[in-house]
Amino acid sequence: MNATEATDFPPSLLDIALFYAEAGVDEAIGEQPVDRTQAPPSREPARSGADPAPNPAVAAAAPNQSLGQGQGQAQARVQLRPPAATGNALLSAAEVEGAASRAARACHTIPELEAAIKAFEGCGLKATATNTVIARGNPQAPLMIIGEAPGRDEDAQGLPFVGESGQLLDRMLKAIGRDEQNTYISNILFWRPPGNRDPSTEEILACKPFIERLIELAQPKVIACAGKHAAATLLGTTQGITRTRGRWHEYSRDGISIPAMPLLHPAYLLRQPGVKREAWHDMLELAAKLEQLGV
Ligand code: URA
Repeated sequence: MNATEATDFPPSLLDIALFYAEAGVDEAIGEQPVDRTQAPPSREPARSGADPAPNPAVAAAAPNQSLGQGQGQAQARVQLRPPAATGNALLSAAEVEGAASRAARACHTIPELEAAIKAFEGCGLKATATNTVIARGNPQAPLMIIGEAPGRDEDAQGLPFVGESGQLLDRMLKAIGRDEQNTYISNILFWRPPGNRDPSTEEILACKPFIERLIELAQPKVIACAGKHAAATLLGTTQGITRTRGRWHEYSRDGISIPAMPLLHPAYLLRQPGVKREAWHDMLELAAKLEQLGV
């Protein structure tokens, strides 16, 4: 280190705050610091010796008394246990996806699915999120908009697309005669990535079975994927969103097939207002498709 690189030690509070801001740490989520390198205490009740041991790392489909909705029906509760409690290695992304898939498939209504998502412990984002953010609008609506992940406002309020980009999305929808009565809005991730960073592949895979099941239960007639992550996850697009936007794709899964269009994400439009012309073209395409389908 030369003289010009030398820094004061210990750093000032301002230096520390600037370091956190650059690292994407933009808010405090608790009064006390938490050492996340330590395994959390198991939340499972003590097992009796006669109780048959479940899969040692994932306990699924146990009834959850505290959830209130759909009692008596198959509610999936997936608990990831820390390695210290099981002697096992952490679960692979494929195992977590498998657990999410079983939990999602056990749900036959949207309230059941919402409860299962809230009970799921397989996505690391949950540890730093304030709320689980699932959907807003009308689940019976013909149009389903699926974005990326909750941001700060969504995390605080527990609803998707309620911040600045959500307000722009609402204005775009209003321009084609759509609102919360005839639109259903969700995300491919149900917890906020800290500092709004890009989601990891593991985080996307952990949530994917739930958004797929939400689509299956809501049965929209048309889907719009806002942003590259939603389009890549649900439509398998590999090109950038500026290439895939505005073109009809097909969301196909488990025998269902729904016309789907990638859209420029409203947050991108806020940063690049010059591309609103393209966004308007895509909204008109959506409106034309809905009209053509008579919905
Ligand atoms: N961006 C998203 O993709 N989803 C939200 O809910 C909010 C912002």
